[in-house]
Amino acid sequence: MKKQIRGFEMAFEDTGGVGVPLLPIHGYPLDRTLWAEQRRGLANVARVIAPDLRGFGESSLPTGAVTMDTYADDVNALLDTLGVKTAVVAGLSMGGYIAFAFYRKYPERVRALIFANTKAGADSPEGKKGRDDSAMLAREKGAVAIAERMLPKMLTPKTATERPSVAASVNAMMSRQSVDGIVAALLAMRNRPDSTPTLAQISVPTLVITGAEDNLIPPKESELMRDGIRGAKLATIPGAAHLSNVDQPEAFNRAVQDFLKSLP
Ligand code: MLT
Repeated sequence: MKKQIRGFEMAFEDTGGVGVPLLPIHGYPLDRTLWAEQRRGLANVARVIAPDLRGFGESSLPTGAVTMDTYADDVNALLDTLGVKTAVVAGLSMGGYIAFAFYRKYPERVRALIFANTKAGADSPEGKKGRDDSAMLAREKGAVAIAERMLPKMLTPKTATERPSVAASVNAMMSRQSVDGIVAALLAMRNRPDSTPTLAQISVPTLVITGAEDNLIPPKESELMRDGIRGAKLATIPGAAHLSNVDQPEAFNRAVQDFLKSLP
């Protein structure tokens, strides 16, 4: 489905139904198909509304600078358009950075939070330099070169060797993203604020998820988030790297399902 919001066309998936609205926000450099196994596995307990962020998947990229607030405003407008008042907001990696921004701007809309394979801190100076290098690589060599660099960090070596079709589909997802969308996201991540002070302000039920083998954003970051957010629960998924929902969809979905059931 597509809706015209805030001057561009936003593509999204909506499973409908009467369950609690669940808004999963994809990471970088990905799109809504990241959540295919969650749509399948969670549609019986939630109304899954999965957007393509501006510049990714089938969503267009209007001109102008992009920040985490821009993405947050976009998904807020999507909820408006769909007449959805409150949702469980979930974000993987960059999606988590956006979930922080969304919570700061629209706390009244957040029924609960799920932070998967993400972190509160901002980019270090070396991290910022890495963003600049990646932006140059994207401009010079295209999304395929970015995908090649990212793929080994996304899934466990076991998934890569034993489920080659899964690795191929993640590689294809990254390779088909537009260079402009990738560069905009790199800049947005580079300039994102430190969300550490937000942790103590979160007053909704929160689930933090990590992959035991996530080397891109190590489990230590998720433990810090769990410790900083009042009452937060942490699920560490064995046999999962950065895309824990793709590496281990059943364990990921079970953690989300148990969390949704526990909501007041
Ligand atoms: C992501 O998976 O969304 C990004 O790799 C996160 C990051 O680079 O900070």
